[in-house]
Amino acid sequence: MDPFQQPVPGELFHTPSGRAVAGDSLGVLARLPTESVDLVVTSPPFALLRQKTYGNAEQAEYVDWLCRFAPLVRRALKPTGSYVLDLGGAYERGRPVRSLYQFRTLLRHVDEFGFFLAEEFYWHNPSKLPSPIEWVNKRKLRAKDTVNTVWWLSKTEWPKADVGRVLAPYSERMKTLLRDPDKFYTPKDRPSGHQIGKGFAKDNGGAIPPNLIQLPNTESNGSYLRLCKTFGVEPHPARFPVGLPEFFVKFLTDEGDAVVDIFAGSGTTAEAAERNGRRWLTVDLDPDYVRGSLFRFVGDRDDEAVRRTLAELDAGGVPLVSPRQPDLFDGRPAD
Ligand SMILES: C[S@@+](CC[C@H](N)C(=O)[O-])C[C@H]1O[C@@H](n2cnc3c(N)ncnc32)[C@H](O)[C@@H]1O
Repeated sequence: MDPFQQPVPGELFHTPSGRAVAGDSLGVLARLPTESVDLVVTSPPFALLRQKTYGNAEQAEYVDWLCRFAPLVRRALKPTGSYVLDLGGAYERGRPVRSLYQFRTLLRHVDEFGFFLAEEFYWHNPSKLPSPIEWVNKRKLRAKDTVNTVWWLSKTEWPKADVGRVLAPYSERMKTLLRDPDKFYTPKDRPSGHQIGKGFAKDNGGAIPPNLIQLPNTESNGSYLRLCKTFGVEPHPARFPVGLPEFFVKFLTDEGDAVVDIFAGSGTTAEAAERNGRRWLTVDLDPDYVRGSLFRFVGDRDDEAVRRTLAELDAGGVPLVSPRQPDLFDGRPAD
């Protein structure tokens, strides 16, 4: 089965460059051609110790469960491919003590399954609510946890990557320096002994981004939430912002490359891939979430047209949605 050439069992809808599949990723991954995928970027159901509405394995079994996907992902990846795993923090049950599951997951992926840790990233979500209420709000024993670990794993030591495609905006200080390097800047030795010369004042179009990605999770203006409301669909409770997978899609793949999300939820990765001209395959166990993810691709249609597309999907058809760029995504530019 080559999902980038032909329909996939369980597919609910597709675009000219992507397929949204309802099913178990273990099965879908097992059927992917070897070394066909450039990037798997995903956010598994978290080991939060509370049963989430989207299902969760108990913490003790969680790492084992997540590790079942590792060899299948690794086989499907090209030698230049990457596996990016976004993992939220968790407390142990009944104690103000942190779980180490993200770190155990990382170690096992490297030690047992042969991945390399290309770099660790941290996603800072300033809009995250304090939790657990007992330790943070009531007893005031712990700070608010607003950072997820995002492990960038690679199949070899040399994954495809170009940080020049994800440059961060320059600081005001750097902009001033670029406008008038002579006035602003005197070359001097740093404590490290490195001399910073005039070359430093070259405009590269942006700054090298840090491995701390700061993004609030407050996307209320997208077509996804708007159409969920219009059509009475419960939005996915644990979405990440499009900017998170988009950072890695741009950083680690070229146009036309193949991007997969094995825990796709509301199809956020699919949106990031589509708007950046990558091919994509997204899989979620819950067909209702996959159905809802259609809303990310029909934002440019009137409600009646969306209703007809949903009816086609519900009748077992596999609608082709042909998004018009860039107004598909509420007119937001790709960058
Ligand atoms: C944290 S959510 C992902 C949310 C997604 N990143 C988004 O932005 O909408 C995890 C998803 O994994 C799905 N899931 C759990 N086990 C799965 C499996 N074996 N195969 C495919 N999807 C699975 C759940 O249904 C859930 O929607």
